[in-house]
Amino acid sequence: MDYKLIIAETLQDQIGDTLTTEEIYTLLEKPKSVDHGDVAFPTFSLAKVFRKAPQQIATDLGEKISNPIIAKVEVVGPYLNFFLNKEIVSDTILKTVLEEGAHYGDQQIGHGESIPIDMSSPNIAKPISMGHLRSTVIGNSIAEIVRKVGFKPIKINHLGDWGTQFGKLIVAYKLWGSEEKVKAEPINELLRLYVKFHEVAETQPELDDEARAWFKKLEDNDEEAVALWTWFREESLTEFNHIYDMLGITFDSFNGEAFYNDKMEEVVSILEEKNILSVDRGATIVDLEKYNLNPALIRKSDGATLYITRDLAAALYRKRNYNFAKSLYVVGNEQSNHFKQLKAVLKEAGFDWAEDMHHIPFGLITQGGKKLSTRKGKIVLLEEVLNEAVASANEQISAKNPDLKDKEKVADQVGIGAVVFHDLKNDRLNNFDFTIEEVVRFEGETGPYVQYTRARAMSILRKANVEIDLTAPLALSDSYSWEVVKLLQEYPDTISRAYEKFEPSVIAKHAIHLAQAFNKYYANSKVLADDAEKPARLALVQAVATILKEDLRLLGVEAPDEM
Ligand code: ARG
Repeated sequence: MDYKLIIAETLQDQIGDTLTTEEIYTLLEKPKSVDHGDVAFPTFSLAKVFRKAPQQIATDLGEKISNPIIAKVEVVGPYLNFFLNKEIVSDTILKTVLEEGAHYGDQQIGHGESIPIDMSSPNIAKPISMGHLRSTVIGNSIAEIVRKVGFKPIKINHLGDWGTQFGKLIVAYKLWGSEEKVKAEPINELLRLYVKFHEVAETQPELDDEARAWFKKLEDNDEEAVALWTWFREESLTEFNHIYDMLGITFDSFNGEAFYNDKMEEVVSILEEKNILSVDRGATIVDLEKYNLNPALIRKSDGATLYITRDLAAALYRKRNYNFAKSLYVVGNEQSNHFKQLKAVLKEAGFDWAEDMHHIPFGLITQGGKKLSTRKGKIVLLEEVLNEAVASANEQISAKNPDLKDKEKVADQVGIGAVVFHDLKNDRLNNFDFTIEEVVRFEGETGPYVQYTRARAMSILRKANVEIDLTAPLALSDSYSWEVVKLLQEYPDTISRAYEKFEPSVIAKHAIHLAQAFNKYYANSKVLADDAEKPARLALVQAVATILKEDLRLLGVEAPDEM
């Protein structure tokens, strides 16, 4: 039930043709304080038509408004303040949530069209960074949000598995590497080789020529080069997959940059046909001056293709293969210029669907206010962060609830959930500072707090052990339950907002507010007392448990029943 709509309709009956129901709906406000009711209608925009002072209009309208859902209307100056009938609203909302369960808030915006989401996309032979973690968890949550509103998300891991660095890696491996060492600790060892290459090449520049030659061999499908590349890629993926398993995140495609090797000729010839290529000091470029952007470098003077060339091929491939409604790229803010260029080149080439491509940027994770550095020694390894979070969750759970069954599993869910929630609770563009102590706090606005609140709701329901009869009245009228009911009522709206802004923090904030409102309610009412209102109170508990779990699911966080 959308009570704003009911109020808008009731007002429209009185106002007549001057304003449509939709127009009135958009004028409705949420009063700043609960003392001013649940919905407010400012009458300023009616003054001209009615040739009356807004105050007078408010007074006149106030006398005529009547609807069972409205308990009282107060006129305050030019405003009409509506107080809803708590019994009717809570009864309807609780029944709806209990009937629809996790599907409450689902929407039919997408009609099954697909939305590829380019996410995670770490680089082979390098550690997966905190930035890649952000892309992974933000992308995963956006995938669940677009699914909830009716789209089909396609999660694509656009691996950085191609480029001149693989020539360097092959040279370094052949000079200083060993199979056992790579097998034992693939990414550390490959990173060590890569760093050593750069150190030595400073005094032995001929190494760079060798690297270029090996990359050329790789591009020409040389057997040895391809075998080494394949092996490095597989070893790296095994390590990445370990982290994805910990996070419980899967992908629909691992088509990375290398996948587009044989698809770039076509893109370049399309750009050629459209007459937008030019040659600048031997390199092939697209001039983007009219977009106020630097030229896009499509091919180097030695013929090598670039990051953007592969992204052009990928964009075209995704349009053809998925016929997307929108195509998203969850990539750090520092690449925003790259994505502007990418869209501009496609637009120049006459592909109107470039408008449907969206870069979804996010801010940096800092430490002590400084950017995390990937330089040697200072690197924050994601896997260590996740392990520490789980260990800390384990400690806290053992202290709180030593007899808990499945303790290990719950500690995993809480520790990992804490890291994910911490990442998603702020607007994605904000930078945020990272300390492990902050991440695994059980109190405050944290993932464990939401999980814990839901587990408490589940334990109340276990204790009560009754089926809630949905044909009986489920009316509540106290002010604590009312705050909870309003948050439940707002849920469909919350989902649309999260979708429109591609913003998981909208969901995380809803979860925190709902958990807080529920804890206040619980502290101020005797939920399990045997009286006529008991079924309604339990219905509220069950509705909260359902929606908190759904909020967490949309964020990619598990909800243990006990903790
Ligand atoms: N591998 C890149 C990096 O780590 C991110 C790739 C983003 N996706 C894309 N289609 N360009 O910076």
